[in-house]
Amino acid sequence: MSNSATPVLEARNITKLFPGVVANEDIHLTLQKGEILALLGENGAGKSTLMHIIFGLYRPTRGEIWVNGAPVVMKNPRTALQLGIGMVHQHFQLVPVMSVTDNVMLGDERVKGGFLDRDAVAARIRELSQKYGLEVDPDALIEDLPLGVRQRVEILKALYRNAQILILDEPTAVLTPQEAEGLFAVMETLRRQGESIIFITHKLKEVLRIADRIMVLRGGRVVGHADPQTTTQQQLAAMMVGREVLLTVDKGPADPGEPVLELDGLRVASDLGTPALRGVSLQVRAGEILGVAGVQGNGQTELVEAITGLRRVEGGRVVMNGTDMTNASPRRITHEGRSSHVPEDRHAYGMVDVYSIADNLVLNQYYRAPFASGITIQTEPIAEHARALVDTFDVRTPDIAMHAGGLSGGNQQKMVVAREFSRPIRLLIAAQPTRGIDVGSIEFIHQQIVAKRDEGVAVLLVSAELDEIMALSDRIAVIYKGEIIGIVNRADATREGLGLLMAGVRPGSHE
Ligand SMILES: Nc1ncnc2c1ncn2[C@@H]1O[C@H](COP(=O)(O)OP(=O)(O)O)[C@@H](O)[C@H]1O
Ligand SMILES: [Mg+2]
Repeated sequence: MSNSATPVLEARNITKLFPGVVANEDIHLTLQKGEILALLGENGAGKSTLMHIIFGLYRPTRGEIWVNGAPVVMKNPRTALQLGIGMVHQHFQLVPVMSVTDNVMLGDERVKGGFLDRDAVAARIRELSQKYGLEVDPDALIEDLPLGVRQRVEILKALYRNAQILILDEPTAVLTPQEAEGLFAVMETLRRQGESIIFITHKLKEVLRIADRIMVLRGGRVVGHADPQTTTQQQLAAMMVGREVLLTVDKGPADPGEPVLELDGLRVASDLGTPALRGVSLQVRAGEILGVAGVQGNGQTELVEAITGLRRVEGGRVVMNGTDMTNASPRRITHEGRSSHVPEDRHAYGMVDVYSIADNLVLNQYYRAPFASGITIQTEPIAEHARALVDTFDVRTPDIAMHAGGLSGGNQQKMVVAREFSRPIRLLIAAQPTRGIDVGSIEFIHQQIVAKRDEGVAVLLVSAELDEIMALSDRIAVIYKGEIIGIVNRADATREGLGLLMAGVRPGSHE
């Protein structure tokens, strides 16, 4: 590819200010025809903001967008589509009860006015599906399709509108490893056919696998460019975080003892009243990490809520240290069950934004000695406790009296981890413990989880990140549609094998 070719897309000096936040600062981006540009950056780095500006969803505070060598005014997504830019969002925008064809036609101006030639649209979908290797059946109902195929329907929608530039915002977040490979194959075909792609991710392996060029954002600024041929994951991580990072977890073999948590035929309902867990049985022993792997939305959230007393158990039993804790209160599960919970949604369950850091650090024990004496809260022991934890867990804050909501996401998570890890416990339930935090904090939290295991704590780790499950677990349970579809020892686990289980393919089945 020659550097002198006119880029299909250019962002020049893009700055975007939100109240109190510089989301993008003087960003330059160029995209050539037939190129896959990876945009890499931690949560909050400004990736989506930049894409929303390119797709006409936000107006930049300063800067210009150029398409095929000319400046354009991106009024709204319709302008972007007319200019050949399509975007696949992280949350799909498809109507489940409608067919692929109906979804593709939906919102297309050319089919407005009552005259809809469905057959012609279906034929065009077949043609595009063939050309780009998408394998999408125009007559299929969306609700019958796996997530990986729904994503290809979104890509098809963009191609149907003649997109030559595709923006894929964290497309692999919802996919199994096999589905991700399928997506990469599609991206390679699209590139061969001359499409240009901006691929957003925070996963280092993926950018090295698929990108022609890598651009790294940190704190709203471009901090570097990299060539995937000559760059390592270590170098990319350092660019993303701004310092050297350990990417592997240092841990010895587990020495498991007696069962601490036992689940027996657990059944719970989802918020909608449908079955979310359909008879889950498993054991977590002292001194081992049991990882629960699965594509998001297969009952993981409900599983953790049922164990921690946040969701009603409709059938089966939860036993902790030999005592039945089914439907016990969260407070009883914490104290009598000697358990800790790092919640998936830290804002709903893990912290109170308007409380100080010091108060957040005693959230589930402020009513006990030494933090309270009778009904009197003891401020000095609380402050002492906070200073020690902030120091040990490296919570970056100028002041323990500051309100916790003012901390960055990674530091909020470290605060929650500090509180939950600092009590004498026998059971740790960690749900998505590193979601949305930077690689440096991930490293730290992983080390702390392993340290707990080595102290003899039973750890239940629930994570949507297969790499995290593989790095930490001693045994791995895969959850699929509310059932444990398989449990394997870490030593016997492969990404491929786990990926098949995550897609619902049972061992020995011939589907
Ligand atoms: N609509 C918005 N209003 C206010 N702040 C926003 C908005 N969208 C994003 N931000 C802020 O801008 C920064 C960059 O966010 P974003 O572009 O979503 O990052 P990324 O996609 O890299 O995770 C974050 O600090 C985020 O909180
Ligand atoms: Mg984003």
